[in-house]
Amino acid sequence: MKFQSLAAHISLVLSLLSLPLAASAALYKNAADLPNVSYDFIVVGGGVGGSVLANRLTENPSTNVLVLEGGPSNEDAFETKVPFFVTRIPAQYTWNYTTTPQVGMHNAEVPFARGFVLGGSSSINGMFYTRGSSDDFDRYAEVTGDSGWSWNNVQTYFAKNEKWTPPADGHDTTGQYDPSVHSTTGINSYSLSGHHQALDPLVFQAGQELGGIFDFKLDYNDGTPLGLGWLQAAINGSHRSSAATSYLGPQFISRPNLHVLVNARVSRILQTGAGSTFQGVEYTQDINNGPLRSVSATKEVLLAAGVIGTPQILLNSGIGDSSYLSSVGIPPLVNLPSVGRNLTDQPTTGCLWNVRADADTFDPVFQEQNVLDDAMDEWNEDGTGPLVVTPIGEVVFFRLNETERTNLGLPAGVDTAAGPNTPHLELAIGNGFVSPAPPPGRWLTISTNLVSATSRGSVTLDTTGGFNAFRAPLIDPAFYTTDWDIKAMREAVKAAKRFVSAPVFQNYVVEALGTLATAETDEEIEEYVRSNSGTTAHPVGTASMSPKGAQWGVVDPDLKMKGGIKGVRIVDASVFPYNPSMHTMAPTYVIAERGADLIKGTWNL
Ligand SMILES: *[C@@H]1O[C@H](CO)[C@@H](O)[C@H](O)[C@H]1NC(C)=O
Ligand SMILES: *[C@@H]1O[C@H](CO)[C@@H](O)[C@H](O)[C@H]1NC(C)=O
Ligand SMILES: *[C@@H]1O[C@H](CO)[C@@H](O)[C@H](O)[C@H]1NC(C)=O
Ligand SMILES: *[C@@H]1O[C@H](CO)[C@@H](O)[C@H](O)[C@H]1NC(C)=O
Ligand SMILES: *[C@@H]1O[C@H](CO)[C@@H](O)[C@H](O)[C@H]1NC(C)=O
Repeated sequence: MKFQSLAAHISLVLSLLSLPLAASAALYKNAADLPNVSYDFIVVGGGVGGSVLANRLTENPSTNVLVLEGGPSNEDAFETKVPFFVTRIPAQYTWNYTTTPQVGMHNAEVPFARGFVLGGSSSINGMFYTRGSSDDFDRYAEVTGDSGWSWNNVQTYFAKNEKWTPPADGHDTTGQYDPSVHSTTGINSYSLSGHHQALDPLVFQAGQELGGIFDFKLDYNDGTPLGLGWLQAAINGSHRSSAATSYLGPQFISRPNLHVLVNARVSRILQTGAGSTFQGVEYTQDINNGPLRSVSATKEVLLAAGVIGTPQILLNSGIGDSSYLSSVGIPPLVNLPSVGRNLTDQPTTGCLWNVRADADTFDPVFQEQNVLDDAMDEWNEDGTGPLVVTPIGEVVFFRLNETERTNLGLPAGVDTAAGPNTPHLELAIGNGFVSPAPPPGRWLTISTNLVSATSRGSVTLDTTGGFNAFRAPLIDPAFYTTDWDIKAMREAVKAAKRFVSAPVFQNYVVEALGTLATAETDEEIEEYVRSNSGTTAHPVGTASMSPKGAQWGVVDPDLKMKGGIKGVRIVDASVFPYNPSMHTMAPTYVIAERGADLIKGTWNL
């Protein structure tokens, strides 16, 4: 007895002592500190895809995983923790990308946010928790020929991902969502708004007054998202819940079989064996001075570098359209013409209204230092207040009906959305000027998002002045290069204008900002769209899934690469053949959760 309790005491002391050490031991800043172990899997990228793979594959204690993340650790990235600071993410946590000149936008070069920090874009994005529609996933199943991607089949992966969490202010959420479509047993936290906005009741009253596309929707995550509802977001109490804080949380990153190296920029995957086996990865921690290092996986290399990074690494490696690669001086190794093609994104147009001077909006948080100081104190001390939420409170997902679509020029019977329950457009409503530095006054924001864009662009290498694996690639989402895209977005702006004309806003809204106030005709509104748009940062498609044996696409539906390549899968949003009709984060978690299952199945893990 005595001996046992002494042993228990010692092991308790040891675990107390070693826990904090172990908790940080698996995060490495220098490659030289990595242990000399042989890795079963090397994961390229520590974003949504990579963090999920790291977590799930190391559930088996005999599987060794190395994650190579290009950016720094999220530990000291303060702005990534405070949900309301989403508009103030420092450039050091982004890739600093801009698009090529966009012909549909008067040749503007648009900033293109991508996370350069552990957690990837889930550490810097707007946190929207939107699964997409049932039609979206059923279309993936149909287009890939794999029923495993159908809506019904992926429910288990949404459940593994989701840990539904009470909001920071503990308010009664009855009637604000449908508990029966949510999971409380997953890994990443999601929640309703934890801070009341004075605009909230006005928004829902406007919905009642107008009806139609603004009818109340209890829970847009049930597969049939159309209507006006409360935003659900990846927030855990007062903190952003990213792939890094959840899937790489302390209890996971401390696993002895998981090693995460930050500041590790991957240049190429390397051919290691006979045929087209690519189980090596080349990287450096200093892109100017090197050295280039290489490491290889005994089982698979898992590319999760994202919609921009993944095709860039493939092209760097000689995998892509062979004639293109030759033309830029890269020896082609595997001809896969779809690499970097079909980039599909969702543009957004900012619509702003000045509202009455005594309106209770969130603008003062970034207009008056003492308001920000108070909000910071509240966030620090109680985990409540205006900083625990995203700036968006409600969303409307809506469609254009068949008559409206044919009026916009689509042939009868043609739909750009995946099916009848699927939106073409979205309005995102915020109680203030969504900006790191709002101008004086009180504001209302409605961003209109084209979630059914048909424009298709590309990611190619920038080889001006010679090849450099680490130079930012050329990103061309080809915004508004189809008739549908510009006209549909024009209709979204009209819908936003109609929304603020609801009776409840009569004595609230003063006037629209800029040329939105005077844009009345179709031509004027289209001009407004072309001059006031950006990206929602929802790119997909640059390494698309397609059926086994198809002449196009980059991966099979089990995420293994085509072209006879062995030892490589792609597990990120670049594999979506179409955009989901909503924000891409939750669907990307599903790619990664199912991807992890497929990999475990292959290796009996
Ligand atoms: C790493 O381990 C292998 C055997 O597992 C050994 O052959 C090799 O010399 C070791 N390398 C270093 C740098 O210790
Ligand atoms: C983006 O720019 C910031 C400085 O403005 C820098 O710290 C960061 O490393 C850059 N990101 C990349 C991927 O180069
Ligand atoms: C959420 O926050 C709580 C309290 O800080 C923490 O204990 C928990 O681990 C977090 N959950 C997730 C999924 O990050
Ligand atoms: C782009 O995607 C479509 C399917 O949406 C496919 O038919 C086409 O071949 C793809 N193009 C390339 C270059 O991969
Ligand atoms: C389509 O929407 C328009 C409003 O834009 C409406 O007038 C028309 O009745 C709708 N058509 C159908 C078939 O629902």
